[in-house]
Amino acid sequence: MVSLKQIALLALTTGLVSVDAQSSGETTRYWDCCKGSCGWSGKASVNQPIRSCDKQDNPLTDMAAKNGCESGGQAYMCSDQSPWAVNNTLAYGFAAVKLSGGTEDSWCCACYELTFTSGPVTGQKFVVQATNTGGDLGQNHFDLAMPGGGVGLFNACTSEWGAPPNGWGKQYGGISSRSDCDNFPAKLKAGCQWRFDWFKNADNPAVTFKKVTCPKAITDKSGCIRNGETPV
Ligand SMILES: *[C@@H]1O[C@H](CO)[C@@H](O)[C@H](O)[C@H]1NC(C)=O
Repeated sequence: MVSLKQIALLALTTGLVSVDAQSSGETTRYWDCCKGSCGWSGKASVNQPIRSCDKQDNPLTDMAAKNGCESGGQAYMCSDQSPWAVNNTLAYGFAAVKLSGGTEDSWCCACYELTFTSGPVTGQKFVVQATNTGGDLGQNHFDLAMPGGGVGLFNACTSEWGAPPNGWGKQYGGISSRSDCDNFPAKLKAGCQWRFDWFKNADNPAVTFKKVTCPKAITDKSGCIRNGETPV
């Protein structure tokens, strides 16, 4: 008879149980210009919430400022929460996240290394920090922030940048060609073009993912570090 202890040992030695195990997940894309949900105090155990910006894209010090998605709101997603290429196979950026079996306190400001497993970006890695979540997200779902990716449920891009009423391009999915980025605000252009360059215009590719220590290059932009973590 095999004891529970032996099964646990077997699981450990065969790698079935591992703290940095890869899980599978799905992705979508968005850029709604709204203040991220991790931008509020008390969401998670962190040094400070994710940075938000005023309408002119200057960092706000008042973390309680009302979301620019709401009428009279003054807090918007900062343009530097755009993705960027580190090299041909690695990029850094930000995402709205929902993980199965957890709540925001477990993922706000945490970083995840996504490895794409479908589409033209298969094998490329994208390290994202969780800045937001979404009521319409599935489980193990990363909604990747990229300017021109579609506003989705909420839209602050019209009030912040004068984007069309439903944002640039389609409400879900956004623009469809690289040249559409030409008319974007200067601060959002590079992030917009990233989608057609590094990201190869991939359409919601599947991923495997694992939690990683945040790169300092990411937390320097967002300002948010989880307690107990030292960015690398
Ligand atoms: C990309 O950068 C990462 C991190 O510096 C490095 O580990 C990796 O080898 C680089 N890949 C290429 C193809 O240069």
